[in-house]
Amino acid sequence: MSKLAILGGEPTRKEPYPAWPVHDERDIEAATRVIKSGNWGGYPYPGPETRRFLKMFAELQGGGYPVAVANGTVTMEVALRAANIGWGDEVIVPAATFQATAAAPMAAGAIPVIVDIDPETYTIDPKAIRAAITVKTRAIIPVHLAAQVADMDAIMEIAEEHNLIVIEDCAHAHGAKWRGRGVGTIGHFGSFSLQSSKILTSGEGGVLLCRTPELAARAAGIINCGRSHDPKTMQETGDNYVFGANYRMSEMACALAAVGIERFPEQAKQREEMINYMEESLSEVPGVRLLKRDPRHTTRSFYQFLFAIEPQVFGAEHEEVCAALDAEGIPCDTGYPAMHHYKLFQPQLSKLAVPSAFPEYFNFAEMALPVATQACEHEAISVEESVFRAGPQGIDDFVAALRKVQENAAELKAAAEQWRADQG
Ligand SMILES: Cc1ncc(COP(=O)(O)O)c(C=O)c1O
Repeated sequence: MSKLAILGGEPTRKEPYPAWPVHDERDIEAATRVIKSGNWGGYPYPGPETRRFLKMFAELQGGGYPVAVANGTVTMEVALRAANIGWGDEVIVPAATFQATAAAPMAAGAIPVIVDIDPETYTIDPKAIRAAITVKTRAIIPVHLAAQVADMDAIMEIAEEHNLIVIEDCAHAHGAKWRGRGVGTIGHFGSFSLQSSKILTSGEGGVLLCRTPELAARAAGIINCGRSHDPKTMQETGDNYVFGANYRMSEMACALAAVGIERFPEQAKQREEMINYMEESLSEVPGVRLLKRDPRHTTRSFYQFLFAIEPQVFGAEHEEVCAALDAEGIPCDTGYPAMHHYKLFQPQLSKLAVPSAFPEYFNFAEMALPVATQACEHEAISVEESVFRAGPQGIDDFVAALRKVQENAAELKAAAEQWRADQG
């Protein structure tokens, strides 16, 4: 048995995985075209590059009325505001996600209500959504996390029953489909990030897919410094402005994102082929649990790949297993911390109104959320998508490294105990 790299042995993989983002001559041509046009920014909205990109994006996802937005956080804030959700309203979000999913409702003035995830998929648990609904609930933001898609059938059923708005957080899920429908077109809104680590990127940027032209017009007004794009608002208020700010995406970013869409199908195919190969090999490693693949999730896309380890079989918690894998040359991390433990989202600290009738939903510090706690603090491991762009050898190296770490469970356990003792 070879010695772990973290304990001084040889790493399993010596060459780095491929870098991201990638570019070719088409990006340089697109950037040159925008530079020469003199129209670099996002005003007037939408410019020609923005229109072209949005058309391509809606085709990629298979529908929706798209609005180009500065990033994949304000997309959600804008969606809430376009749906008239704000002060005092409650928005249900899952505990396993990036902080943006809960920060966006706060930016709109609403209270994020953090609920537990499903143990088999790590996406929001529909039972937990039902349990968290109060008279103030106005929206749900399911997150299609890593390579998973939330149970959109159950979520839409609950939303229809309680008249709630659904904003799909699709920051990880460009190109993914549920029952053949593109994610982001199932709820009332789909929020996409184009930040540089995402599988479709323009450096920074975002797209908000809206279910109706009216919602898209409201959103366009909000992102365009409040210049109304909605004839109804203009009639009601008697002037051309709604409450908004400059949340526009630039022409330059839209031109680069359009080139990204041209490359996207080939990249998606490559990741899909590699993931099938990887899942077969991974399922044979002791102590590894793959997340459930729901048959309704008809097209997968891979921003990251999440799986769970059994800490007792690896002799260590996920954090130490990740450190060992990193030393073996595998880019991975423990995923997002459990959001109900962030100080930022404690309503008593942010001085948001806490309805006394429902203390259990708002005292996050005391909320158990056992599945998210177990996943985010003990067992989840997230592997970077670059692993899927290095051919079969890239997958073989990852699986070999994981096997090596597991076979060295006793050594890792002893080392982990020492590291913890050193940290006091
Ligand atoms: C799940 C999720 N939602 C939202 C965002 C926010 O996207 P952006 O960085 O473009 O604001 C991210 C970004 O990483 C994310 O991972």
